[in-house]
Amino acid sequence: MDINSIILAAGKGKRMNSNLPKPLHKVAGKTLLLWLQETLKKVSVSKNIFVLGHDSEKLTKHIQGAEYVIQEPQLGTGHAVKLTKDKFDRPETIIIVAYADTPFIEANTIKKMIDQIQNGFKISILGFETENPTGYGRLILNKKNEVIRVVEDNDADEEVKSITLCNSGVLAAKARDIFKFLDKVQLSNNGEYYLTDIISICSSLGSKVGYIISPEEELIGINNRADQAKAESFIQSKLIQKHLANGVTFFDPKSVYFDASAEIESDVIIEPNVFVGPNVKIESQSVIKAFSYLENCSIGENCSIGPYARIRPDTVIQENAKIGNFVEIKNSVVGENSKVSHLSYIGDTSIGLDSNIGAGTITCNYDGTNKNKTTIGNNVFIGSNSSLIAPITIRDGSIVGAGSTISKDVKENSIAIERSIQKQFKKRNIKSKK
Ligand code: UD1
Ligand code: MG
Repeated sequence: MDINSIILAAGKGKRMNSNLPKPLHKVAGKTLLLWLQETLKKVSVSKNIFVLGHDSEKLTKHIQGAEYVIQEPQLGTGHAVKLTKDKFDRPETIIIVAYADTPFIEANTIKKMIDQIQNGFKISILGFETENPTGYGRLILNKKNEVIRVVEDNDADEEVKSITLCNSGVLAAKARDIFKFLDKVQLSNNGEYYLTDIISICSSLGSKVGYIISPEEELIGINNRADQAKAESFIQSKLIQKHLANGVTFFDPKSVYFDASAEIESDVIIEPNVFVGPNVKIESQSVIKAFSYLENCSIGENCSIGPYARIRPDTVIQENAKIGNFVEIKNSVVGENSKVSHLSYIGDTSIGLDSNIGAGTITCNYDGTNKNKTTIGNNVFIGSNSSLIAPITIRDGSIVGAGSTISKDVKENSIAIERSIQKQFKKRNIKSKK
């Protein structure tokens, strides 16, 4: 079975009030475009054809080598689909028509539509029930529960306006049928060619149009920032459900934010108010304590992170390590069983196994021009409030005395201390003026 898609993305997306084309806006860290592309991949869509118009030059960079047509001027959804006709040479190909701004359809929903086509329906259209149908096309059914027409909101009379079964915009049909029906679509009253007119054309030719119903949230269309925020909260609750099902414990799931890419293993505990940004992996048994911020990092098994830790990109925290409060770590490796428990900055650093980095330690990685590397071996103890001036190596088994500014490499099993000699004087008796 050959399945292709047509993704309509020529609209201006004016209500987003943005310089960025609408399909490139993100929800849970992933562009609307990618949400849709990934779903289409799951149902084995072998080719996506985009219809671009506004901002096409900004979008072509992001469609990963997919084919596209430019629709200029934009004369409606029917016109948009018709422009892609030459891209399909096999009449039996099943085409999924989707909108770039309605990207949260589930793969299973699309599969059900494909099934309907294989079971003899000429078109399968995706609908939803809503309490507030204003603005949507309505699905009109016959007694056999087949769709005979879609009436756009603009053209609806009072009776049709009271119908709550709406058109999501997504539909499936074979290439042969969709373009045959489109040839018969007439210009509508408002000067557009409606894709939805193919429904009545198909049904008047005696062919069956089936429909699938999905929950309204799955079909949220992103037209403005309020829709985007609504979609974000819907997707966040879905991500939380996924992590709960995978065995993650939350004390207050609603307060945790997840990028869609996060991979969290079972028996991880996530405390309230944690931000899990892009490309984060957290292995089993680890605890992420409250108010921690993680992005592009991996946390090994049985680690303790935070509260108030910031784990920045390209950081690897290995098994049983502990990162405490007010610690910032960037582009570094913290080895097994090592601890950075309090108030430290660790950047461009590798820390071996079983090392302890004292409170207030700073790796001075930046000299104003270059970022330099700090290497700390195994079983190293860095005393509190030390500055390690990179590039520098502190070898296995060494100790750095508290309060030191270390600028030369420290040999194995050595003690390095850089601290001025303490002066001490007897206190003078200062008489009070009274
Ligand atoms: C469309 C449907 C309506 C449905 C609603 C769901 C039609 C005629 N109506 O209406 O039944 O309830 O979606 O949200 O299809 N686009 C182009 N070229 C064009 C026009 C639109 O590429 O010439 C793209 C837009 O960028 C957008 C999508 O098609 O991604 C839908 O267009 P839009 O104008 O929002 O259609 P609606 O009026 O909302
Ligand atoms: Mg719309």
